[in-house]
This record gives sequence, C-alpha cells and structure tokens, in this order.
Amino acid sequence: MQVGKAEILSVTNRRPKITVVGAGNVGASVAQYAVEKELGDVVLVDVIEGVPQGKALDLQQAGPIHRYDSTLVGSNGYDETANSDIVVITAGLARKPGMTRDDLLFKNAEIVGAVVEQIVARSRNAILVLVTNPLDAMVQLAWKKSGFPTTRVVGMAGVLDSARFRTFIARELNVSVENVTAFVLGGHGDTMVPLPRYSTVAGIPITELLPKAKIDELVQRTANGGAEIVALLKTGSAYYAPAASAVEMVEAILKDKKKILPCAAYLDGQYGVRGLYVGVPVKLGREGVEQVIEIKLTPDEQAAFDKSAGAVRELVDKLKI
Ligand code: NAI
Ligand code: 2OP
Repeated sequence: MQVGKAEILSVTNRRPKITVVGAGNVGASVAQYAVEKELGDVVLVDVIEGVPQGKALDLQQAGPIHRYDSTLVGSNGYDETANSDIVVITAGLARKPGMTRDDLLFKNAEIVGAVVEQIVARSRNAILVLVTNPLDAMVQLAWKKSGFPTTRVVGMAGVLDSARFRTFIARELNVSVENVTAFVLGGHGDTMVPLPRYSTVAGIPITELLPKAKIDELVQRTANGGAEIVALLKTGSAYYAPAASAVEMVEAILKDKKKILPCAAYLDGQYGVRGLYVGVPVKLGREGVEQVIEIKLTPDEQAAFDKSAGAVRELVDKLKI
C-alpha cells in the first residue's frame, strides 16, 4: 500500500512529552540520553538566554546520526512545556569544592519552588522527577508546592548511588556490571546507607565474596562518590551518571516497566518513617511510584536508616514547609 501525504499527516500518535528544567550539565545530558533512547519529545528550559535553544538544536542535529526522530525544543519560558507527561527538574546550583549539598538548600529551594509553580500551572497530570540538591529536601518541597499526590513526585539519588556501588563492586571482582545489583537506602548525603547484604553478583550476596574490610572501603567510596568527582572536576559536580540515572527512572515510568529502583519516595509509616521523602526501593510505572517496597533491615541497618532519615528531616525542618 502506498502511503500518501494526507495519510502521513493523519497519524496523530504523539510521543510522550518530557520537559527537562535546567539545561546545565545534568539537564542537557538527561535530554541527550532521553532522545537517544527515543523516550519522547523533549522541551529543555533554562533561565540563560540561548542556552536551552542552542543545546536543543545541537542535539536535534545529532538525530540523523544517532537515528532518533524525537524532537527537541529549547526555551526560557514555560509555555512549550504544557501537557508534559514527565518533568525532570535539574535547575539550581551545583556543588563546588568545599560546599556540602546542604549549603545549596535555601538557594535551590527558591529556584525549585518557582519552577514547580510554573510547571504545575501547565501540566496538571505530569510526574515530577527531582534531581536538584539537596535532593530529599527538594523533593519534599516540590511535592508540597505542587499539590500533586505523592505517587507523582519522586527524587533521583538511589539509582545513582547504587550505580556507583555497582561500579566499584564490579571493578573489585572483575565481573560485568550487568551481573551486579546493589541497594543504597536513605537520604542522598553523607549518611546514605549502602546495603551489602542486598547487593549481589549473579545473585550471590557480596558478603560471601568480599572480606568485610573491603566492603567497608567500597561502601565508604560510594557514600563519598559525589564529593570524589567534585574534587576532580573542581568547577562542578558529576553529571553523566546522574543523568543516566534520571533517564532510567523516566524510562521505567513512560514504559510502565514496574521496575524496582531505589528512589526518594514519600514514606507514610514504611521503615518507621512518616511524612517524609527518603530513599527506599520503589516500583516505578506509568502511575509514578506505584509501591514502596519494604525490605527487612537488621537493627544496625535500621539504625543507619533512622540516622539518615533524621538528617533529611533536619533539612526539611529548616525549610519550614
Ligand atoms: P549546572 O550548573 O550545570 O546546571 C544547572 C542549570 O540550572 C544552569 O544551566 C542554570 O542556569 C539553571 N537554572 C538556575 N536557575 C534556574 C531557574 N530558575 N529555572 C531554570 N533553570 C535554572 O548544574 P548541574 O551539574 O546540571 O546540576 C544541577 C543540580 O542537580 C544541582 O543542584 C546538583 O547538585 C544536582 N545534582 C543532583 C544529583 C542527585 O543525585 N540528585 C546528582 C548530580 C547533580
Ligand atoms: C552527586 O552525588 C552532586 O549529588 C551529586 O554527584
């Protein structure tokens, strides 16, 4: 059958609409990975004139080579974001050497608050994926500001922290990263809780494969993973792995994969925490956070988790939201 022009034009199936706010290092890489996987059409927003437009056009022109038909649009406003399916928020300041994630709290709260207002005015049904630091506090703020159900506001940190842990485990044992799974719970900060018992190589817990001292070393390197890269880059923080992590979440949601990933999710009694966003394993699908998965923790693990949740609550309290 020959397909005529009218028939081509009549095909109206649209790709999902992905908005990425913040066209800096993480945001631009999120846009890149998302179109390379053809997850949807991307709108890139930033306050710097010309930057989102330039990066969107540049990425669009990589399409013929990387073979994607997803479209990209850059903007300094929000009208183009209307009716987004998913919004990844990376707008804000990144850590510089000597700065903690917490130093970013008040400045980024202002930015994220303003961004969320603009987004929800135009995309009432979107799912928000927060990346901006300090992550857990920013998700809590975005949820409050948005008025969205907790299922549609989620934060990216655990996927990144677990990817770092998986990388270190794979390198140590000289096995494929594909064979390694890892869980990191808690807030995205110095108190994060990598869980060696639930971290495996081809199903075998690493506690059976590595001595405790080595595991402690890898756990420590994971908890320090962001700072290690800040110290090397000097002018900013990590962005390739963070962007890849956010896009794994976007893919799980848009493709309704029901994938179990560690994310900052709202806890309503699970793990003994109520009314707070903290990193836990969740099931991600088209509805967003479709389930918080509770795993059994030892008393030591629970204590570490409580400490981490306490650190998150302290930050959230400072925001007085
Ligand atoms: P970047 O500085 O390269 O990009 C941030 C962008 O946000 C800039 O282009 C800036 O112009 C833009 N921006 C600032 N205010 C804005 C506003 N009101 N509206 C729209 N855009 C605005 O920083 P990078 O490396 O992309 O990091 C972004 C954020 O993500 C930082 O807060 C960083 O700490 C955080 N991050 C979080 C990770 C996590 O695991 N959750 C991992 C990596 C980064
Ligand atoms: C990271 O972990 C800075 O939070 C960011 O790399």
